[in-house]
Amino acid sequence: MSKTQLRGAVIGYGFISSKGHIPAYLERAKSKGDVKIVAIVDTCEARREVAKKALPEARVYATADELYAAEQGNLDFVDISTPPCDHAKLAHQALDLGLHVLCEKPLTATLDEAKALLEHATRVKRVLFPCHNYKHAPVVKKIREVIASGKIGKVRSLTLSTYRNTHAKGVTEWNTHWRRQFQYSGGGIAMDHGSHSFYLTFDWLGAYPTAVTAKMTNLEPQKYDTEDNFSCVLTFPNGLAHAHLTWTAGVRKVTYTVQGDQGAIRVEDDDIEIAVMKKTDGPDVAQGAVAWDFERSTISWNWMDASHVTWFDSLFTQFATAIEQGEWVGKEAKEAYRCIEIISQSYASAKNECRELKLSGI
Ligand SMILES: NC(=O)c1ccc[n+]([C@@H]2O[C@H](COP(=O)([O-])OP(=O)(O)OC[C@H]3O[C@@H](n4cnc5c(N)ncnc54)[C@H](O)[C@@H]3O)[C@@H](O)[C@H]2O)c1
Repeated sequence: MSKTQLRGAVIGYGFISSKGHIPAYLERAKSKGDVKIVAIVDTCEARREVAKKALPEARVYATADELYAAEQGNLDFVDISTPPCDHAKLAHQALDLGLHVLCEKPLTATLDEAKALLEHATRVKRVLFPCHNYKHAPVVKKIREVIASGKIGKVRSLTLSTYRNTHAKGVTEWNTHWRRQFQYSGGGIAMDHGSHSFYLTFDWLGAYPTAVTAKMTNLEPQKYDTEDNFSCVLTFPNGLAHAHLTWTAGVRKVTYTVQGDQGAIRVEDDDIEIAVMKKTDGPDVAQGAVAWDFERSTISWNWMDASHVTWFDSLFTQFATAIEQGEWVGKEAKEAYRCIEIISQSYASAKNECRELKLSGI
């Protein structure tokens, strides 16, 4: 067993915690011994029953208040895996008690909440860390490696398309459709999945955006009050990124393109194609006197499985390292703030005839 073992409580025992976080914690407890989940909180009785069966050794509570009252001194961190409307309140409570916070995306449902949370973590010197797990997906690591190699030159533009045939669903015992209900989610697909697209653009363009313009629709306004289609263009100092997210697609699919000045990367689900320009002796035709070498391969990155259980371990390592190094509000937390700024400014843009709005970051 490693020297320091982090003792954690998971708040919210729904889809992501039962299928993603907890299995990854159990595996890590066995392989590395540096983490132990000692308690679980869920406001839904039926979910508490499932939790008790899955983790017989953990203590199970109905509210965070009960957890904090009973577990004072037994905890190092909380893992917040509830819908976004409660993230800020739960995180402030934990920080007040001197606990580190790992929080599912989006970090908060509003920009004011995000600002207050980053300030709080800085003040009390506790780690605030978002679950930006797509950064840990094998295909994303490959894209980062290709960009860093210089093969495709300087990145100039990106497209990120996320196609889903329905909104993501929560566990049936609680409120399956909370993502379509503003009071729980704070927004639709941009709030739910936008962060993943946005932090990838920061990585791939190696910069932060300065402005956004956006459009969205809600095709079922009688039933739901959040958007199901969202599209935005982000202006960066060195290029543009277009993010398209839809819950009304005919297929579940991911496509990314990264255009550099010497080549390009195209990802479609598990297929990745790297195109690298080479000079030719031929005539200067429409595309210039160049041809391309194409390298095609397949990377199985399990993106279809929304629990993304295999991406969690290296994310948790980052969180644990931040605790060890006293990096209370690092790059990841600041990027979470930027993601929420993009989401809120996009909503404002979409409601105002796609007006381009400034992004200032933190
Ligand atoms: N990073 C990813 O890839 C990924 C994937 C799925 C979900 N998520 C995120 O995880 C979070 C949860 O999503 P989900 O799909 O697991 O939802 P879910 O509906 O399946 O689970 C939520 C659980 O939280 C419980 N709950 C609600 N309010 C609570 C509160 N105040 N205190 C304690 N428990 C409470 C519910 O009873 C339910 O069991 C969201 O922020 C979502 O965006 C992230």
